[in-house]
Amino acid sequence: MSTDPIGRTALVTGASRGIGAEVARQLAEMGFLVIVNYREKRVRADKVVDEIERSGGRAVALGADLSDEMSVTALVSGITDTFGQLDLLVLNASGGLELDAAPGYAMKLNRDSQLRLTELVRPILRVGGRIVFVTSHQSHFFGQQPVPKDYEPIARSKRAGEDALRALIPQLNEQGVDLTVVSGDMIDGTIIVRLLERRDPDAVSSRRERGALPTIDEFARVVAEASTAPVEPGQTFYVGGADYLATGAVDL
Ligand SMILES: NC(=O)c1ccc[n+]([C@@H]2O[C@H](COP(=O)([O-])OP(=O)(O)OC[C@H]3O[C@@H](n4cnc5c(N)ncnc54)[C@H](OP(=O)(O)O)[C@@H]3O)[C@@H](O)[C@H]2O)c1
Repeated sequence: MSTDPIGRTALVTGASRGIGAEVARQLAEMGFLVIVNYREKRVRADKVVDEIERSGGRAVALGADLSDEMSVTALVSGITDTFGQLDLLVLNASGGLELDAAPGYAMKLNRDSQLRLTELVRPILRVGGRIVFVTSHQSHFFGQQPVPKDYEPIARSKRAGEDALRALIPQLNEQGVDLTVVSGDMIDGTIIVRLLERRDPDAVSSRRERGALPTIDEFARVVAEASTAPVEPGQTFYVGGADYLATGAVDL
């Protein structure tokens, strides 16, 4: 916990909508100054900042395409110049389902870009700081459970991203920084689930048959908990998907 006038500072990637936006709101309620990262939807990110400020919180919107080295380097330089240090990095941004995504884009964004951002941010993470990797059960349990065909490149690349980040745990712990992972079932109300519902309705309806899907608010609450609660190194937080957890395949 920092004692300087800025207080605790968090960078949430992909916070212009969906889960990231709700995580930003909840962290701001907990007293973090939140850097709301977006790729291109500046107006949406500004709206999230506006909502946070009107509720008495502190936030700024900073754009950067995490898959672009120059863009992400400029983001971290800007944060270093303005805030000096960070307490929390929430690796929420993800992609690959876009219709115009180039071959290999999912691996570039969901593994390589997560690692690069982590390495760039490490020097400014305070002792006691934390990195939270946000993922889906379909990715976390990749290789053990079937995945809809369209989602396979994303699941494979997010699992690869998780493995690469977990390999850093000894170095991070030495630096006094924790890494946690939050894995969720399909989350109701997200654009991804709406897209999947259009492209592969059976994949979504078969999940719904197993019970109500977790909401964005419920998922974001667990991300906020994984950001602040005392944890074991590399601890995984699970949201929904009792059938996945029943396989016994936890903390892979
Ligand atoms: N949706 C689900 O059902 C579900 C379930 C479990 C886990 N999750 C995980 O939760 C996280 C968020 O999911 P979501 O459904 O809320 O995502 P989403 O609605 O698709 O939002 C993606 C966010 O990431 C940003 N983004 C995309 N590509 C980027 C890039 N190259 N650089 C920087 N930002 C980029 C977008 O910014 P712009 O708007 O500016 O493009 C947007 O803010 C992901 O890690 C996902 O795997 C989702």
